Amino acid sequence: MSTLAVYPGSFDPLTNGHVDIIHRGARLFDRIVVAILLNVEKSPLFTVDERVDIAREVFANNPNVEVDTFDGLLVDYARGKGASAIVRGLRAISDFEYEMQMALMNRHLNPEVETVFMMPAETYTYVSSRIVKEVVALGGSVTNLVPSIVDDRLRRKRHGRTTLRA
Ligand code: PNS
Repeated sequence: MSTLAVYPGSFDPLTNGHVDIIHRGARLFDRIVVAILLNVEKSPLFTVDERVDIAREVFANNPNVEVDTFDGLLVDYARGKGASAIVRGLRAISDFEYEMQMALMNRHLNPEVETVFMMPAETYTYVSSRIVKEVVALGGSVTNLVPSIVDDRLRRKRHGRTTLRA
């Protein structure tokens, strides 16, 4: 029986930390679905369509990585896809409380879906979408911390606007 995992998140934007976790998940499971939450924020930096395009381009050569969107309860989406696991990345102790709360709530909602935590490479333990947006908004470089397509699009957004929301 083939194994399927869902890797959910906002991915606004996709970082190399996310990419690292997706590659690890793709080695552990037969298929992994990158599931982008719809309407997570009222004014995201990248639209959901842009985030889907970015992820599809980054994983174009990884046939066992699928990119999709979802809304509603994650466990309902996961079961609908036939996934047995939810993958989440854990960077530091500071992630743990929120992640444990989500994992246990998801288990309460559906005990059949197991949450699997994976650690990214040490290089990315300080990288988050929020901090990437803040650095770019203030004119800093995030090269090597995000895929090059994200870096390009962040630059374009910065040059296209007078302010880039952090
Ligand atoms: O990238 P993020 O913002 O940390 O991802 C959070 C996400 C999308 C995994 C979480 O908000 C989520 O699962 N939302 C769907 C709603 C849901 O199922 N909530 C109950 C479980 S906590």
